[in-house]
Formats: sequence, C-alpha cells, structure tokens
Amino acid sequence: MQIGIDFTARHVVVFGGTTGINFGIADAFARQGARVTVASRKQENVDAAVTALRAHGGQVCGVAADVRDFDAVGAAIATSVDQFGPIDVLISGAAGNFLCEAKDMSSNGFKVVVDIDLVGTFHVLRQAHAHLRRPGASVINITAPQSFVPMRYQAHASAAKAGVDQFTRVLALEWGEEGIRLNSISPGPIDGTEGFRKLMAPTPEDREFARKQVPMQRFGSLDDIANLSLFLASPYAAYISGALIPCDGGGALESVKPALEAAGNSYRGTLGSQG
Ligand code: HXC
Ligand code: NAP
Repeated sequence: MQIGIDFTARHVVVFGGTTGINFGIADAFARQGARVTVASRKQENVDAAVTALRAHGGQVCGVAADVRDFDAVGAAIATSVDQFGPIDVLISGAAGNFLCEAKDMSSNGFKVVVDIDLVGTFHVLRQAHAHLRRPGASVINITAPQSFVPMRYQAHASAAKAGVDQFTRVLALEWGEEGIRLNSISPGPIDGTEGFRKLMAPTPEDREFARKQVPMQRFGSLDDIANLSLFLASPYAAYISGALIPCDGGGALESVKPALEAAGNSYRGTLGSQG
C-alpha cells in the first residue's frame, strides 16, 4: 500500500535504483507523477527498470554508471539534468555486501564495500550538489542497521554505513543554509531483496529465524521504505534534516543482528566443512 503525495514534474534521481529497495523507491515516485532517473552499473538492470517505470506513463531516464567512478557519476547526473532539469529529490542507495569475518577478508574485499557504499555516496552527493534545487531539495541516503549496531561478518559494511551516517549529518550542517535537507533511512529486513536473501535468509530456516527477531514479527516491504521516502521528500517533512530514521518494525537495536550472525555462522560452517 502506497501513500499518495503528488510529485508531478518533480525530478527524482535514484542511484542504485534499478533493483530491490531503491527500485521500489523509484517506482513509488514514478507512480506519483515524478520524472525519474535511475542509475546503476549493469545496463541490463537499467533497461529493465526503465521499461517497468515507463509503464506508469511518466518520463524516465536510465543511465549505466558505477558509483565508484566520480566522472561517470557526474556524466550520469549531467545527462539526467539535461533531460529533466534541477534535481528535487536525490536518493543514494547503491551498496555491495557479503558475509565474511574481518580476519578472512582481503584488503580489496574491505575496500570494495567501502568504495561502493561510502565513497560512492560521496561521489553521488558531490556531483549532484550543483544541480540540486535550492531551496527545497531533499537528499536521502540509504543506510543499514549495522551502521549503529556492530555485527559480526560485517566489518566492511558496518564501517562504510557508519561513515554514510556521519557524512549525512555533516552535509545537513553544510547544505542546510542553501535550503537542502539531508536524511537517511535504515531499512530492517525487506522481503524479496538481494540484501535480505544474501545476508539473512539463504535458507527457509534462516528466514523464519529472522522473522521471529523482528518485534512486529514480519518482514518489511518495498512499500514500507518507499512510503517513508515519499514523506521525507515531501513538504510534510519540510523541517526534518540530519535525521536517521529506522524503518524496521521496531528492531532498530536488535532485530537484524541475531539473524545475520546466525546466517554468518552457517556460512562459516560451510567453509569449515570444505576446508
Ligand atoms: C569474501 C569476497 C566475497 C565473499 C567478494 N569478495 N565476495 N570476499 N567473501 N563472499 C572479495 C573478492 O574476493 C575481491 O577481493 C573483492 O571482494 C571484490 O570482489 P569482486 O567480485 O571483484 O567485486 P565486484 O564485482 O565489484 O562486486 C562487488 C561485491 C558484489 C560487493 C563483491 O557482491 C556486488 O556487486 N554486490 C552488489 C549487490 C549487493 O551486494 N546487494 C546487497 C546489498 S545489501 P580480492 O582480494 O579477491 O580481489 C546491503 C545491506 C543489507 O548493503 C543489510 C541487511 C541487514
Ligand atoms: P540490491 O537490490 O542489490 O540493490 C543494490 C543496487 O545498487 C542495485 O541496483 C545495484 O545495481 C546497485 N549497485 C551495486 N553496486 C553498484 C555500483 N558500484 N555502482 C552503481 N550501482 C551499484 O540490494 P537491496 O537489498 O535492495 O539494498 C538496497 C539498499 O538498501 C542498500 O543501500 C542496502 O545497504 C540497504 N539495505 C537493505 C536491506 C535489505 O533488507 N535488503 C536492509 C538494510 C539496508 P547494479 O548491480 O546494476 O549495479
């Protein structure tokens, strides 16, 4: 169930917006009349997302770009601004992840997640800044519970997302006087997504264990996150900036950790039996 807030002719840019949670956000804005740009690495993901979003009848731009490439991010933003004008809403949600203990992680394995999640977020916001509507633009970074709850097997993502959180707060200070708001959303376990399947529910047993850890005893949906994004980008949130808002069925401090660590224990057991 999606809430209805009119975004007709607003320009919404979603990095990492071709699948999962971020696609759900792009889809919600497209349904509300926005002109939507989605960007991610794989051309086939971009093409599929553009086709799906155009079904809502609005204007859609898709660009293939890797957020680790500063110039490619700049070119993607330039393309979208040429088509749809200044950016009213910017979502930065590209991320990479895998389960691995720090002692087994290669330097490149740690770096790749920091580069996508944290440096990528810097690239997106830095390149977009000159094109954000001022006053009025709303920037939303997608973070994760491991940014504030330390979790085994998540040294890379915990460090990267904690960096995203503090980066969001600093820019809320620096860009506030320009009339730009910055907030971040921390999703709980969102059903049907790659991050949830890979990290917490590789088996039906893991999935059921994860469900029981959520105080509300259910997983989140794409609409749960999309609705919060619509609200944060709307005039109803005009005085909210610098906030990190969990959208997680009440599990901000505990829900994900036991399930993720159990999945990690299983993964380590698999490695052990192979070794
Ligand atoms: C140990 C691993 C590994 C694994 C990769 N690496 N997978 N190390 N265990 N399972 C190491 C590789 O060996 C390599 O290091 C380095 O990481 C880079 O791997 P590549 O495959 O070359 O990188 P790349 O093709 O750029 O892919 C990046 C990726 C990949 C992060 C590894 O998983 C990806 O593209 N993911 C995007 C989709 C995704 O993960 N979505 C979920 C987001 S969920 P060496 O030293 O060998 O070169 C999320 C939070 C969810 O963010 C929160 C839920 C609570
Ligand atoms: P997902 O479907 O894998 O989404 C990740 C998106 O980022 C994809 O569109 C991917 O497309 C893109 N991407 C990955 N690396 C990129 C790069 N280097 N450059 C540009 N785009 C890149 O995963 P998801 O689970 O929905 O996660 C979405 C966001 O929610 C992430 O920020 C994640 O940390 C956060 N989150 C998810 C959950 C959950 O339950 N799923 C919980 C908490 C937080 P390409 O492969 O085409 O690049």
